[in-house]
Amino acid sequence: MQQRALGLKRTGKTIGLVPTMGFLHEGHLSLMRLARERCDVLVVSIYVNPAQFAPTEDLDAYPRDFGRDEELCNQEGVDLLFYPATMYADDASTWIDEKALSEGLCGAAREGHFQGVCTVVAKLFNLVLPDLAVFGEKDAQQLRIIERMVRDLNFPVEIVRGPILREPDGLAMSSRNKYLSAQQREEALCLRRSLDGVQKLYGEGERSVAVLRRKMLDCIEPVEGAEVDYIEFVDDGSLVAMDEVRGDVLVALAVKIGSTRLIDNEVLHA
Ligand code: PAF
Repeated sequence: MQQRALGLKRTGKTIGLVPTMGFLHEGHLSLMRLARERCDVLVVSIYVNPAQFAPTEDLDAYPRDFGRDEELCNQEGVDLLFYPATMYADDASTWIDEKALSEGLCGAAREGHFQGVCTVVAKLFNLVLPDLAVFGEKDAQQLRIIERMVRDLNFPVEIVRGPILREPDGLAMSSRNKYLSAQQREEALCLRRSLDGVQKLYGEGERSVAVLRRKMLDCIEPVEGAEVDYIEFVDDGSLVAMDEVRGDVLVALAVKIGSTRLIDNEVLHA
């Protein structure tokens, strides 16, 4: 991959990268379209990265369908599909640790997760040598951590934010939605409803995080199969939690629907 990328660079081509773990859906395709518009060569990587799964999380159960993914990439005009069997030496011992933004939200519940994400993304940048890379806003914390890593480690890569794509009823698209039964699919709508509720209250002038969080809990707690992992109101830049909404605030939540952990978010703009 690196040899190909170096060859492309020598001919003056710009490279866009969309890193994925496969099982592609419309959300991924929208990221590819964003990249496609802005580069000569579009590279999509598919790699279910073991380093970002905790020992308690089931790596083997992560959904995979390479044949379908390949077909979708062809339809989207992807130039190179990077599909490595592995990305780590058996005795790999160098890891990238972002130490501020990774602490809370999903980082609190998923130990080592962002170390795995940062390391694999840095490796992908070194292999694909992209001028730009697109990451979805659904993984809000991941996106901000990668932006921080790129800044802190001077990667010459522009990070492009891809808006969240939603199903017509508002559920954020995710590979994990596949795990939901028909009933759980209905239950999962409580995430979006809770964000709508908070937007409305915020629009009416409410700034107390306790009140806004309560509103979200009221949308989720009555749903039988739903269990809140976290609902956080954090500064959009530092990801530090706040009691009063001031400036741009990221509202992020993770909710378990049965055994499937779903995330969603929204930014309340000042
Ligand atoms: O968002 C994802 O699918 C993964 O975390 C990523 C960025 C491809 C790294 O494995």
